[in-house]
Amino acid sequence: MQGNAQGAYDAMIFSAGSPFVRLAAMLADIAPGADPIDLSVGEPRHAVPDFIAPVLAKANAEFSRYPPIRGIDDFRAAIAAWLDRRYALAGRIDPARMVVALSGSREGLFFAALAARRYFAEKPGPPAVLLPNPFYQAYAAGAVMADAEPVLMGAEADDLPDIAGLDPALLDRTIAAYVASPANPQGSVAPVEFWHELLALARRHRFFVFADECYSEIYREAPPPGALQAALADGDFGHLLVFNSLSKRSNLAGLRCGFAAGDPDFLDFLSTFRNMAAPQVPIPVQRAAIAAFNDEVHVVENRRLYNEKFAAAERHIGNSFGYRTPDGGFFVWLDVADYGGGEAVARRLWAEAGLRAVPGGFLASEDGHGRNPGLPFLRLAMVNDLATTETALCRLVDCLGPANPDRNT
Ligand SMILES: Cc1ncc(COP(=O)(O)O)c(C=O)c1O
Repeated sequence: MQGNAQGAYDAMIFSAGSPFVRLAAMLADIAPGADPIDLSVGEPRHAVPDFIAPVLAKANAEFSRYPPIRGIDDFRAAIAAWLDRRYALAGRIDPARMVVALSGSREGLFFAALAARRYFAEKPGPPAVLLPNPFYQAYAAGAVMADAEPVLMGAEADDLPDIAGLDPALLDRTIAAYVASPANPQGSVAPVEFWHELLALARRHRFFVFADECYSEIYREAPPPGALQAALADGDFGHLLVFNSLSKRSNLAGLRCGFAAGDPDFLDFLSTFRNMAAPQVPIPVQRAAIAAFNDEVHVVENRRLYNEKFAAAERHIGNSFGYRTPDGGFFVWLDVADYGGGEAVARRLWAEAGLRAVPGGFLASEDGHGRNPGLPFLRLAMVNDLATTETALCRLVDCLGPANPDRNT
């Protein structure tokens, strides 16, 4: 891949930069109009489970040891057991070969693209990596650093990527497709049929499905199905890796602990490469993760706290700004096109109401038609406590709401 194309891909990550750096630059010269409330970063602020610190303390001596790259046996067994409980996988996840520990899902999502590039080195044509749009930045970083073409998939009305419309010639040169369910930012949940369809394409055209399921436990009513369930029903775990972590499920974003599970041959390949280059997960951290994955009580409480805030969003926002409570995740995704679009509204909310939120355009890129599908939107992370969230919602509606139509710009 060369010239302008490579330059355009690089721009997706290097010149654009992280959405939060862009937001900081955009708001740098604007004074907040009220006590700031940060709704920008998807960093959970509910309490860390209280059993974590004692487990870390007890395992303190194990900080002296280099951790095995795939994770300790007990960790992988705990993950396999959790996956089995969560997705009814009939004991089919072999902890020895089908699970690896990650230092949070982000680095795994990134390194997987690099490994896929090598794994499918003999594929003809310029390699492509399929991304949803909006997308999580690590996917694009992986594609670009793997020297593959990041191809943005269009979206269906339900916000899931339009995989039925993908060109077979493109799929032939595809090495990986990233899909998040629940999706960030829209919160849409992929039904199991979607995973069947995508996995069938992956098997037919030989590429990997990288299923980003890090919001799997943050849902409103029904637990989102997992890609591994579709693989089990198909009787084939090949061509699939799912990624998950404790960051959202257990409010442990700073612990940096997650896992990848799925295709055993690819995990062997990935682990060989990771063993020379990737971060290992400290053994005490793995012990804390075992305790966290073995406990659902704190996860149920965590969901309740988020759901309380979505109920507040329904009360305050109603059906303004195209609001709809998402099936999963913890973001509110508002269509503010009538108010000037995401960037204008982010500036205005900061200047008039002290609210810091991310313009949707910063989370997406221009597609093949020169259209950035995030531009009309604004993302609010519902990570503050209920009272702060209610204050933020009141300020938002007061600033933009139908009660003040003359203030629309
Ligand atoms: C869609 C998505 N995937 C992956 C991650 C990475 O999470 P972690 O590395 O903490 O597991 C995030 C974090 O915000 C995310 O929003």
